[in-house]
Amino acid sequence: MSSAERIEELRTQIARYRQAYYQKDQSLISDQEYDQLERELKELELAHPEYAADSPAAKVGASASELFAPHPHKERMLSLDNAFSEAEFNAWAERVVGGPFLCEPKIDGLAVSLTYEKGKLISAATRGDGEVGEDVTANVLTIKGIPHQLTGKNHPALIEVRGEVFFALADFERLNASIVKSGGKPFANPRNSASGSLRQKDPKITASRPLQMLVHGFGAWQGELASQSEVYTLLNSWGLPTTKRYQVVNDASAAFEFITKLEKERHTIEHEIDGVVIKIDQLARQRELGTTSRAPRWAIAFKYPPEQVNTKLLDVRVSIGRTGRATPFAVLAPVQVAGSEVEFATLHNADQVDAKGIMIGDTVVLRKAGDVIPEILGPVVALRDGSEKKFKMPTKCPECASKLAPAAEGDVDLRCPNAKSCPAQLRERIAFIGSRAVLDIEALGYVSATALTQPLEPAQAPVQSEADLFDLTLEKLLPIRSEVLDPDTGLPKHDSEGKNKVVDFFRKKDGSPAEVALKLLANLNEAKTKELWRILVALSIRHVGPVAARALCDYFGSLSAIFNASETELAQVEGVGPTLAKSIIDWWAEDWHQDIVSRWQKAGVQLAIPNHSGPGSMVREGVFSGMTIVVTGSLTTMSRDDAEAKIIAEGGKAASSVSKKTSFVVAGPGAGSKLAKAEELGVEVIDEQTFLSRLPRSN
Ligand code: IVH
Repeated sequence: MSSAERIEELRTQIARYRQAYYQKDQSLISDQEYDQLERELKELELAHPEYAADSPAAKVGASASELFAPHPHKERMLSLDNAFSEAEFNAWAERVVGGPFLCEPKIDGLAVSLTYEKGKLISAATRGDGEVGEDVTANVLTIKGIPHQLTGKNHPALIEVRGEVFFALADFERLNASIVKSGGKPFANPRNSASGSLRQKDPKITASRPLQMLVHGFGAWQGELASQSEVYTLLNSWGLPTTKRYQVVNDASAAFEFITKLEKERHTIEHEIDGVVIKIDQLARQRELGTTSRAPRWAIAFKYPPEQVNTKLLDVRVSIGRTGRATPFAVLAPVQVAGSEVEFATLHNADQVDAKGIMIGDTVVLRKAGDVIPEILGPVVALRDGSEKKFKMPTKCPECASKLAPAAEGDVDLRCPNAKSCPAQLRERIAFIGSRAVLDIEALGYVSATALTQPLEPAQAPVQSEADLFDLTLEKLLPIRSEVLDPDTGLPKHDSEGKNKVVDFFRKKDGSPAEVALKLLANLNEAKTKELWRILVALSIRHVGPVAARALCDYFGSLSAIFNASETELAQVEGVGPTLAKSIIDWWAEDWHQDIVSRWQKAGVQLAIPNHSGPGSMVREGVFSGMTIVVTGSLTTMSRDDAEAKIIAEGGKAASSVSKKTSFVVAGPGAGSKLAKAEELGVEVIDEQTFLSRLPRSN
């Protein structure tokens, strides 16, 4: 293909994607793929200036649709140039010859211009092609938080205020669920939902949607102004919402620090951001630098790595967890996102699949936020061709064919009731025992757990229940040959030829024991004397996590004391409610469960805290005595469980929900509703660093 042909092709594609995006609220491709196309076009045009005339790369948005009356902007509404690396950002900072810079989040929403005459909102419009937008005044009037009349005084005769209209992530999920429920078409992502909700013919629909707006600039302005930050102060004093997160810094390196810092905090913001906008603060300097046909030279968007990609939903299957819960998950055409390849995404339960409105065969928007597990936001309905199929929750366990049923009436989750011999449940429980949070047995990962519980050879699995675990010997391990399963889905992994991967996991080629076999036996031996609460958690009793297990073990001192306690006695332990107490009683009522405990005891597992002087005797004193602390989000130097362990070790209570009684909240990246709740209640929020500093030295 010649350059001329490629330029033509790119222009056609870009025009199509822009039209869909701006006029129909559809993301037919991901922002990243789109940016890539624009980049390629710009580079080609630079190399071939003879074709550069009338290029979409030099234009803004798409022309206004016919749905709304045209609204000519008094000052053009521009787009922004992008920087994707520190080098590109520095190159821009050098071109503009330094700060001060105003830095703020780049909100993933849609641009809207508000016109105020003598303080009264007289019109609102989308960006359109930058010259003429769509008149959406009636719709914008319904958005809470946009003043119809400015407060304060000294309002100029006329101003155009520009900002971003958007949807909070949680509101987006609720919206899609309600749209699907009433038979409508869900949105692919929050940005589309904002645009689709604002660009409604009937403003009553807009009014029913929790849209928000933050303002970040101005167009026409009758009056004197000195700096961007001064504008924000003024707008604020008139009741217009600007971001609280902006900061004016002196030089490029401080601006880059802002960029790095905000990226870490990215997921504590309730709406999506796709980068940072850096603006020259002084307006005189902005005017000197001026604009190109599509973007100001005095501002740049630093784009973070994308967290959203489009991919195909190939299938929805069900995996069975360690307590039998059947969880639907998406099988996706593999895609790269946030630095890793994603092939599966959990869908939590059948209700959620319905609420998302996704169908098998859909192109879907997949979001992977940092280290957080990938999730499907929604389908790109416009790309459906009629071959898509609705997902139906299976009625039988995919691994043991038992009939799935809710554990209790009204539960959303279906469960496989065959706890004893469902291969999936046993495999998951054994892998759980090996995990860091439980017995922390490095050689007992998912491959080992699969090999031990469901080998291809020998016919008799050496681990048919947890009871067998501490009786393993080299003789039992050596003959094992097994498949390798994916830990997230339980599906077989494939080798380079596409066949199911098979391994002789515990022996070398010459038949001698592999390192992992020796290590497993040694690790299991060491695990016999781990803290009692870990042994209790290892039993996979529903609701008994590390926090409850610690409380129970501290109180009772031994497994026999716990299992001999009555429901009432159990429930009176701090942090152990009636549900948990009943769960323990029910668990112990099964013979094969009792068998696990007695076989572990025979194998030498320590089932009591040495020197514990009877029920109720252990009260911990420490820096957190009397405090109730909540840990949320992901931490970097330790897991949440570790943090909770430290809280308990210091006499505090680790709680899972925030209330007025919460002493403080430790929040890491990814914190969501708990953080919001804490802020709402005025509960102190600290970061990991501060938490560490409050711990005594030895910790
Ligand atoms: S300033 C002259 N600040 O991003 C244009 N824009 O990709 C100055 N956007 O068209 C825009 N957050 O709609 C600015 N904090 C922010 C922004 C922001 C989001 C949008 C804006 C712009 C688009 C460019």
